[in-house]
Amino acid sequence: MIVTIDGVAASGKSSVSAGVAQALGVPYVSSGLLYRAATLLGLEAGTDLGDARALLTCLEAAPPRLEPLASGNRVWQGGRDLTPDLHSSRVDSGVSVVAALPGVRAWVDAQLRALPQPFVAEGRDMGTAVFPQAGAKFYLTASPRVRAERRASERPEEVDAIEAALVERDRLDTLQSVPAEDAQVIDTGGLSLQGVIDAVLAGLPR
Ligand code: CDP
Repeated sequence: MIVTIDGVAASGKSSVSAGVAQALGVPYVSSGLLYRAATLLGLEAGTDLGDARALLTCLEAAPPRLEPLASGNRVWQGGRDLTPDLHSSRVDSGVSVVAALPGVRAWVDAQLRALPQPFVAEGRDMGTAVFPQAGAKFYLTASPRVRAERRASERPEEVDAIEAALVERDRLDTLQSVPAEDAQVIDTGGLSLQGVIDAVLAGLPR
């Protein structure tokens, strides 16, 4: 069975998905890392991030590959581990433009659908566009402030700047960030990480 965990930026999807996947004994799959990898490669090649054809040429020339490790997903391009470079502010601020390109979305979706199942899939549109047949769907939310405070521990910027960037990314990601009709929505604001993991596990079909 596939479980999907979608949600807004920095809502805790990766950590929650890792915990849920561990409890279920399956891998988790972080779709956002592939959008981040496409963005990084575009930035490094100096392409216009809105130029779908140029980006797809980069992606097809040396395709990044997602490795859904239980200890944390990684993205490889040949022998190069792209993962440490995927969470810079430069990638954060370019990724939504790349993710808006239908050709890039189709490329990411094909990578995800080719992975061996079952797994927990996290992102924005896992329960709607990519795995609509999933056996259980969740959608995580939290206020921008709560999310910015969480991310402040992972970024060098001030919390106000992080919050503004998250709100802008939410706005640019609106189209692909609609909860599935059959998703269980969890406000993670007042919950610990374990609390959210427990809420997801409690919401799984028996
Ligand atoms: O962890 P965070 O929410 O900050 O980001 P992420 O899940 O790594 O996603 C990075 C970006 O990829 C998002 O801001 C979206 O632009 C895009 N994305 C998407 O469009 N669809 C997905 N399924 C996952 C990510």
